[in-house]
Amino acid sequence: MMAVETCEYELVPHRGFTLISGTHDPDDVDQINDLEIRDSDVFVVTYPKSGTIWMQQILLLLEAKGDLAAISRLSNSCNADLIPWIEVNGSRQTFITAPSPRMRVTHLQYQFMPSALSLKKGKVIYVARNPKDVLVSYFYFHKLANMLETPKDFDDFFEKFMRGDVFGCSWFEHVKTWYSHKDDMNMLFITYEEMIQDLHSAVQRISVFLEKELNPEQLANVVKHSTFNNMKKIPKANYEQVPDDLFSHHEGRFMRKGTIGDWKHHFTVAQSERLDQVFQREMKDTPLRFIWAIR
Ligand code: A3P
Repeated sequence: MMAVETCEYELVPHRGFTLISGTHDPDDVDQINDLEIRDSDVFVVTYPKSGTIWMQQILLLLEAKGDLAAISRLSNSCNADLIPWIEVNGSRQTFITAPSPRMRVTHLQYQFMPSALSLKKGKVIYVARNPKDVLVSYFYFHKLANMLETPKDFDDFFEKFMRGDVFGCSWFEHVKTWYSHKDDMNMLFITYEEMIQDLHSAVQRISVFLEKELNPEQLANVVKHSTFNNMKKIPKANYEQVPDDLFSHHEGRFMRKGTIGDWKHHFTVAQSERLDQVFQREMKDTPLRFIWAIR
């Protein structure tokens, strides 16, 4: 959700999804299907606000064997430049000629992704987060991000999210669809809540999936530099360097709470029950269950 060209943004329906004008070019996005994929390519797929930048930090640290300074030495760029969004204007073109390993993030729905992924080429990490915390995080992000409409109030945003009238469309469709293709591709499906509850185990799973061999000390360093409190202090990782024309930094921080259950401070009982009902109806055919709060 980075790098925009104009000041005019709006959600544009496109092939059963929505794109953001000025940020995404529909013709370019349509060509992502045909990208040639190398076995070393890695795509992190998320519905917005599910832990994308967290995964950017973890992948860079795994690549650098836990050496934070080595990431800085790679370039002056921030994490979003090192692991960009594939759907953003110009990104597909640079992907084609980029050296391996090519690591990218995306919020796109399944139908837009390189079809070679379904031939088990490359790797996909899908990160899912419980929709109540996603909704709250997304509400605050709409205030911060200039390419998204500032919500009237929480109740209004709640309705928009439930209608799927946001970038990313329906959380339920996004998670369900990607999950249904889990076995067609080399995919690690992991939840934000698993990462919060046991970051060390999550990082270990990710490193095994990516076939990265790190010794215990290196692995511990990956964990150390990707905890919420530490990552928040790293300018290249915490998104404070995003230019002012993209983010209204006075409205808040990208790395806001980083926890499970903040929805309890925002939802009414009726909103919570309504989302529970939709969740049960929409997700009943999947084994997916989420942790909604930590005691
Ligand atoms: P909150 O707004 O609930 O704090 P994305 O990167 O997909 O946009 O997701 C952003 C959410 O991930 C934000 O949630 C942010 O604080 C959280 N996040 C980012 N890095 C994190 C970390 N190291 N640990 C826990 N949460 C993190």
